[in-house]
Amino acid sequence: MPRVIAHLSDLHFGTVPPGAVEALAVDIAAARPDLVAVTGDLTQHADPGEFAEAKRFLAALPCPWIAVPGNHDIPRFGFGERLFDPFGRWRRHLALPTEPVFDDGEMLVIGVNTVRRTAAHLDWSAGRVSGAQVARIARLADERRGRRIVIALHHPVRHPRWAAGRRALGRGGAMLRALRPFGVDALLAGHLHRAIAGGAKARPVELVAGSALSARDGGEGNSYNLVSLSGDGLGVTVRRHIDGCWCERHPGVAGVP
Ligand SMILES: [Fe+2]
Ligand SMILES: [Fe+2]
Repeated sequence: MPRVIAHLSDLHFGTVPPGAVEALAVDIAAARPDLVAVTGDLTQHADPGEFAEAKRFLAALPCPWIAVPGNHDIPRFGFGERLFDPFGRWRRHLALPTEPVFDDGEMLVIGVNTVRRTAAHLDWSAGRVSGAQVARIARLADERRGRRIVIALHHPVRHPRWAAGRRALGRGGAMLRALRPFGVDALLAGHLHRAIAGGAKARPVELVAGSALSARDGGEGNSYNLVSLSGDGLGVTVRRHIDGCWCERHPGVAGVP
């Protein structure tokens, strides 16, 4: 049976304009997705009030949902907390795991937490996966063969040319090699605040969602992706917020059998 995922990212509660949440909720409800997947940066500063707003938004969604953390969801200034309990606020205020799994028997969505508290380089906003995380993804995909498989993570594995200066996901290549035997349908990512939904020939297809709510919209307005999985392949429609209305931008650009 076909499945539709509403792929949202970079909500950045704390920077959301008035009325934006309500308008987005109406558009998502009209799309009737089977799942909402939020790929990180739910908050701007990991503040309790921002997490509370995010929690209200998630709780009101009309379908199942999962969310993984982004680099903005761990404390930036409380260095001790960042070092010793980086995901404590995520767990306390959202009461969520950092690596959720959704499995309805036909579609398996594996959440991967790519956020790191520190790094051996200066860009601590960059992400990484560990060998243990790669092994977990492969084990889940192996145990639950026969399902369509989607990976949800904050940091893109491949960057477009305009973002080539940004640091790539650490160990991302190893993750893709480990996933090869399992026929992963799509990677869903965010972080860049611009939608990337097709055109690339590399497999698995990587779909990046823009910012669905934040005023930090990368200069292209707010957007999210509707990802469809069916016997005909993979399709994606970018929903864009233009002149106060949510509308469809370009449907079906990532057709993959
Ligand atoms: Fe972001
Ligand atoms: Fe980010």
